[in-house]
Amino acid sequence: MLKITGSTKVICIFGDPVAHSLSPVMHNAAFEALSVDMAYVPFHVPAQPPGDLKRAVSAIRALSIHGLNITIPHKEKVMSYLDEVDSHALAVGAVNTVVSRSGSLIGYNTDGEGYLQGLKQDAGFTPRGKKVVIIGAGGAARSILYSVLLKKPKEVVLVNRTAARSASLAREFERKLAFKIQTAPLDGDALRRSAQGAHLVVNTTSIGLSGRGELDFPMELLADGAVVSDIVYSPLETAFLKKARARGFKTHDGLSMLVHQGAIGFKLWTGRRPPVAVMRAAALDALAAKK
Ligand code: ATR
Repeated sequence: MLKITGSTKVICIFGDPVAHSLSPVMHNAAFEALSVDMAYVPFHVPAQPPGDLKRAVSAIRALSIHGLNITIPHKEKVMSYLDEVDSHALAVGAVNTVVSRSGSLIGYNTDGEGYLQGLKQDAGFTPRGKKVVIIGAGGAARSILYSVLLKKPKEVVLVNRTAARSASLAREFERKLAFKIQTAPLDGDALRRSAQGAHLVVNTTSIGLSGRGELDFPMELLADGAVVSDIVYSPLETAFLKKARARGFKTHDGLSMLVHQGAIGFKLWTGRRPPVAVMRAAALDALAAKK
């Protein structure tokens, strides 16, 4: 049992909603496993009225809270209330992790790097020299796309239902990183061309979440030995991953990104090496308990 004393440092998460978050369970298990004197608590910071987020960040300073995670819908807006935002988070345009250092609040984005660390450790895949297909053009796609581009892939295709959104994201990152990004819609011949010979396809949309439909992707066109990846973790094996596994592809589940983005945050807050297996087991237990 986590022991809270007068010297325990507090880490928290801001979100709306926040009750579903697995981060408290995951981090408290990690603190306990390494006897780190920290405790992680959720705070529901509503999207409306807009002034609430600003006041919540002021409270972090007033209460000397040591660090925090930021989740939907505050990841972009929080940047203007921090003292510093690191260059990676600035380029991505979102912060998911904050550390208080000598009273200064510094923002980071660990989502993309967490995704890639998980992909490497859990599926043995690195994007360098590979063809990568990213489905979606929202916040999660931004983080993953940016980190993938930094690894010098051979080809990247951004697939999205709304063409204007993927085109705008592709143009923005092309300017920042001087890398040609292809785009394709979520159906038809262009989608088939994007799938052809790809080494990694990742779903960054909410399609596949319990009750939210199923992705229709021409998996048969992927390269032999391709990795099929999903950031949805409820269910842990989405219909997309199930289909991939049945076809003999390597699969990579959504809990991997959650755990590894958290692991980088853990390192930033504690300076300790994160107990990744403990974090994943705690998150899995919490997921099973929700059923
Ligand atoms: P997040 O920040 O979690 O990534 P988001 O910014 O709302 O969330 O982005 C959601 C992504 O999922 C978008 O790419 C969205 O496609 P559109 O740009 O066309 O809206 C995609 N998405 C969500 N539900 C979808 C559905 N039922 N079919 C196709 N795409 C969907």
